[in-house]
Amino acid sequence: MSRMDMEFSGKVILVTGAATGIGRATAEAFLREGATVGVNHVDQSTQFAGMAEALHDLPGQLIECEADVRDAGAVQSMVDGLVERKGRLDVLVNNAGISQVKPFLETTEDDWDSIINTDLKSVFLCCRAAIPHLLVQGGAIINIASELALSGRARFGPYTAAKGGVISLTRSLAREFAPSIRVNAVAPGPTRTHLLEMEARVPGHKEEMGDIPLGRYAEPEEIAESICFLASSRASYFCGDVISPNGGAVMR
Ligand SMILES: NC(=O)c1ccc[n+]([C@@H]2O[C@H](COP(=O)([O-])OP(=O)(O)OC[C@H]3O[C@@H](n4cnc5c(N)ncnc54)[C@H](O)[C@@H]3O)[C@@H](O)[C@H]2O)c1
Repeated sequence: MSRMDMEFSGKVILVTGAATGIGRATAEAFLREGATVGVNHVDQSTQFAGMAEALHDLPGQLIECEADVRDAGAVQSMVDGLVERKGRLDVLVNNAGISQVKPFLETTEDDWDSIINTDLKSVFLCCRAAIPHLLVQGGAIINIASELALSGRARFGPYTAAKGGVISLTRSLAREFAPSIRVNAVAPGPTRTHLLEMEARVPGHKEEMGDIPLGRYAEPEEIAESICFLASSRASYFCGDVISPNGGAVMR
């Protein structure tokens, strides 16, 4: 492996919701490039163990970071615990999330709170815990939004509101913490993960493949590429930006 391929050697990176899907592919990509990766999950010890087993030959080091990202105390302990163990934090990827497909007029207050807490408040909590550590030597935050925050979508009201909030928070934090911390977002299009499978099971819901010029869903690894790019020195002039790998569904 060349030096350039080991971009993240010596770096400590925390990825939330990293036992499955885009988070797992992202953790794997960072491990390939030599990082120490804190793999956050909640109640997914089996998936974590399988992942640790499957990826143990990669050059980086994988560290289990169990916490519910909606819980301020758990998030603080997770971040402080990782820094205590590894001595630093260089990159935070706020990826954990849930979605819901439901007509707006059937949406309950609990539905709203659940999505906002998991998809938006978690980003606030993780950033608040991580930023003091990132400021020590500088670093990067990558927040995972959604293409749907750019286009809007019927029956995704709370989800698009949360992801729109993630984009706005990204821009404000980018302004507040530049140049020490580069804060950017990735807004993926439909990607083949549990989340998309769950949406597909909702009666009456279907992804319109015809709306995607590339004619297919993304693989999680393709989204991980954008996340790793924004975390890397190759993205040194990106600040407060949103990059959206979406197969052409949304062109801005
Ligand atoms: N798959 C898509 O089509 C798509 C499109 C746009 C954006 N996204 C976003 O990508 C991110 C990753 O989703 P994915 O598609 O890989 O689905 P996924 O369901 O495989 O991954 C989401 C992960 O977040 C974790 N998570 C949920 N609530 C949590 C909590 N309270 N604490 C800690 N972890 C929690 C889940 O356990 C899961 O591992 C999400 O933010 C999602 O909104 C996905």
